[in-house]
Amino acid sequence: MKDFQFYAPTEVVFGRESEEQVATLVKKYGGSRVLVHYGGQSAKRSGLLDKVCRLLDEGSVPHVELGGVVPNPRLSKVNEGIQLCRLHGIDFILAVGGGSVIDSAKAIAYGVPYEGDVWDFYAGRAQAQTCLPVAAILTIPAAGSEMSEASVITNEDGDVKLGYSNNISRPKFAIMNPCRTFTLPPCQTAAGVTDIMMHTMERYFNPDGDMTLTDAVAEALMRTMRTCVFAVLKNPEDYRNRAQIMWAGSLAHNDVTGNRSNGDWATHQIEHELSGLFDVTHGAGLAAIWPSWARYVYQENVSRFVRFAVNVLDVENDFTDPEATALRGIEAMEQFYHAIGMPTNIPELIGRKATDGEIQEMVRKCSRNHQITQGRFKVLHPADLEAIYRMANGEIMNNS
Ligand code: NZQ
Ligand code: ZN
Repeated sequence: MKDFQFYAPTEVVFGRESEEQVATLVKKYGGSRVLVHYGGQSAKRSGLLDKVCRLLDEGSVPHVELGGVVPNPRLSKVNEGIQLCRLHGIDFILAVGGGSVIDSAKAIAYGVPYEGDVWDFYAGRAQAQTCLPVAAILTIPAAGSEMSEASVITNEDGDVKLGYSNNISRPKFAIMNPCRTFTLPPCQTAAGVTDIMMHTMERYFNPDGDMTLTDAVAEALMRTMRTCVFAVLKNPEDYRNRAQIMWAGSLAHNDVTGNRSNGDWATHQIEHELSGLFDVTHGAGLAAIWPSWARYVYQENVSRFVRFAVNVLDVENDFTDPEATALRGIEAMEQFYHAIGMPTNIPELIGRKATDGEIQEMVRKCSRNHQITQGRFKVLHPADLEAIYRMANGEIMNNS
């Protein structure tokens, strides 16, 4: 087992009516003036936002609201939030929504006490020394931001989508009521499950070996998601299965299934350029890339892909031909994506092929102007990234 540090300080309050505790929890973690941050319409339409504001009022917690966070959250909204927090003397940020809202909340939290441009952190020009406390009322299980140290922001100036990770922004508490996910449309449900599984897969496909315990946890999580997703797509108000998915979303990204820094993350990095450029749903973008990534890299460790195929996707193990078993696992994953309505390539994702210029732009951004590599399972240089984009674009069939 590799050396690691595990840090998951978020207090999770899980279950029906768990949002009732919001005012008590805000006060417990030192909040006295709160920014309630939310997205487009869903939290308003469901009545959750009104309920949260009422509970804060009843708990005598002053608050201001800032909505309008869009999927792939934008830097301009972050800057608006920073100004608003300074104006009102805000000392606590409560995100009501999914990964986009929570990530925007984290960015605002870094920005309020910082004299410079908050984008400095995302661009790698500075490290945040402090930030306001953040908490989440989660409405979509997917990104895992409710327990993670990461946030991902899109700078509209150049459509650059970059992540910044810092333990100081891990939410103080996360309220998770599976009933709040009943209203999710099928595409968001499926994209969320895809992201949850991918957070596990990024950790599972690493070059380190000796992961007996975390492999078993990861495989159980992924198998559970394979089953639960069909149940909730059939019956969106299936509490039991919504609950499994919601908890899995946190466990998939709070490092229980493996330390983030030991993972691969190439699929995520390759996808971030897709959602940065085409503003697609992150989970759908992952599904469009993973099969091409997998076919490009599987020969680095065929037995790992065999194990995934057999233990996660129930592929029969052909002991005489491990490579065939590995490839059948990748095909089974594609079938799963299609069965839940996810794309498996770029044309299915954006409705057309990416142009040559778009591919070059994504390669350039993903390799930070050809300066860095991506991935650990197989280290990917710019030429490898380009090959994977072209495979996902239907231009070349494999890595030969
Ligand atoms: O804006 P509203 O109207 O609320 O609609 C949202 C949004 O359109 C809707 N939604 C959320 N809860 C709902 C609901 N609709 C009906 N009922 C509900 N209960 O769902 C849509 C997607 O929401 P979003 O927050 O964008 O989804 P997700 O949680 O998948 O977050 C995606 C973002 O997280 C980043 C992604 O890159 C992307 O920008 N990630 C963040 C990570 C992290 N911080 O650790 C890790 C991930 O790998 C990921 O990169
Ligand atoms: Zn993700």
